Amino acid sequence: MEPFLSLSNVSKHYAGVTALKQVDFEINPGEIHCLVGENGSGKSTLIKIISGTVHPDPGAEIKIAGEVVHGAQAIDAIHKGIQIIYQDLSLFPNLTVAENIALSQVVASRSHVVRWKTLDRIAREAMARIKVHLPLDALVGEISLAEQQLVAICRAFTSDVRLLIMDEPTASLTRKEVDALLSVVQEMQARDIATIFVSHKLDEVLRVADRVTVLRDGHKVGTYPSGELNDEKLTQLMTGKTVTYVPYTPPQSPETQEPVLEVRDLSKRGYFKNVSFQLYPGEIVGLTGLLGSGRTELALALFGVHQPDSGETLFKGRPVRFRSILEAMRNGLGYVPEDRLTQGLVMNQAVGKNITLTILDSLRNSAKLLDPRKVQESIQRWVKDLAIKVPSVESPVQTLSGGNQQRVVLAKWIATNPKVLILDGPTIGIDIAAKFAIHEIIRELAHRGLAILLISDEIPEVLQNTNRLLVMHKGYVAGEFVSSQTSVKDVQELIDHQDQ
Ligand SMILES: Nc1ncnc2c1ncn2[C@@H]1O[C@H](COP(=O)(O)OP(=O)(O)OP(=O)(O)O)[C@@H](O)[C@H]1O
Ligand SMILES: [Mg+2]
Repeated sequence: MEPFLSLSNVSKHYAGVTALKQVDFEINPGEIHCLVGENGSGKSTLIKIISGTVHPDPGAEIKIAGEVVHGAQAIDAIHKGIQIIYQDLSLFPNLTVAENIALSQVVASRSHVVRWKTLDRIAREAMARIKVHLPLDALVGEISLAEQQLVAICRAFTSDVRLLIMDEPTASLTRKEVDALLSVVQEMQARDIATIFVSHKLDEVLRVADRVTVLRDGHKVGTYPSGELNDEKLTQLMTGKTVTYVPYTPPQSPETQEPVLEVRDLSKRGYFKNVSFQLYPGEIVGLTGLLGSGRTELALALFGVHQPDSGETLFKGRPVRFRSILEAMRNGLGYVPEDRLTQGLVMNQAVGKNITLTILDSLRNSAKLLDPRKVQESIQRWVKDLAIKVPSVESPVQTLSGGNQQRVVLAKWIATNPKVLILDGPTIGIDIAAKFAIHEIIRELAHRGLAILLISDEIPEVLQNTNRLLVMHKGYVAGEFVSSQTSVKDVQELIDHQDQ
């Protein structure tokens, strides 16, 4: 069988960085091929070269359906039936869902009059193909990240696709949505549509892939039939090391102290209702539940972004109602948001500047001027502690790989030295070795007395790294578990049960 796409000798150098080095890659018609590797290993770069948005260094050869492609432009790739969903989704926030889905199709048809009905029909057909329902008239900027991801996927399905490339498509989807997406991918396979899938969720990779290509530091380690791989082996190939997992042992009985954060009957209409819990110093409490269960809205309310309608929040024993992020921060509350690419960072600013943005006041000398030595020390420390892979702290954040951007967000907030830290999906899109590293950091912070609220979809992640776990459903706290005495199945059953 002739491969649908084959690349050979692909290299890409950026100033000071080798993103890819002499990589060969091929994908057959109808094949599901997963691309894995640690953050910054070159996955997105390879994909951008396939789509023609990034040009490889001279000497590379790219063939699509047996034909050599010279200086491939993005438009050529599209005409040859290659569609890409980027890590940052590339949607237009101020257009509607229907417009975002149908726009490229309408543009391609060169039709001058765009009828609302046509847009609506194209969007509905695409949604039907992957069996999702989205509010077509809503502005994309106003829907959730998971819904935005589905919009990007629907958009790819409006044309005749031969190869669909997805860069971390499931990063912020819940289990159910992931299942739905993966079954679409398998359906496509039956129609001979190939898929390249980038993901850090190895169980997912092994579940769907025919073959897996592993990248490490811009080199190709190899391509393997997925039947020859398991979690451990894959991790080993990616990192070159054996990673062993150590279960979390919480510091003993934090309940002897006063809770640092206490929430009593907190409600906000349409989002969450009668939520009560306590968070003690040195404790990690998990918060999980399906998308739309109110987790993020609750976190935002605690952080002063939304105002609750009723109920009470006590911080260090005193009732508080933060009116703004700044006020919450000044009082010792930190919040790492869910949407790493838009909420946390100033993309065109240097890594160092992003990290120190929130702590500038603590880096001033007695004359209130910034102390350059303190600034540099602080930046170096965080880059080292979080193992942020970056050629220089002066590099703009937008040149970092997705997972390294996420580490910058974390560094920025941990550097504020908060009393309570709310982490919303802190390891979404982060490779497995880095994920362990971040779990270690979270545990270490708790041991130092910080109280942490860890929001995550990944039940194993919350169970393995928390003292207690709260499960939210439709705005209520549907259950509470002691993590060390609970299995993934216990939590899953509670969620599935609520869902019926
Ligand atoms: N425009 C750019 N300028 C400079 N360096 C870049 C640029 N784009 C990517 N890089 C560098 O190339 C390397 C590979 O990045 P790439 O985005 O391909 O990684 P990735 O495997 O997709 O990682 P992740 O899992 O974190 O998304 C990184 O070191 C990154 O910093
Ligand atoms: Mg990437």
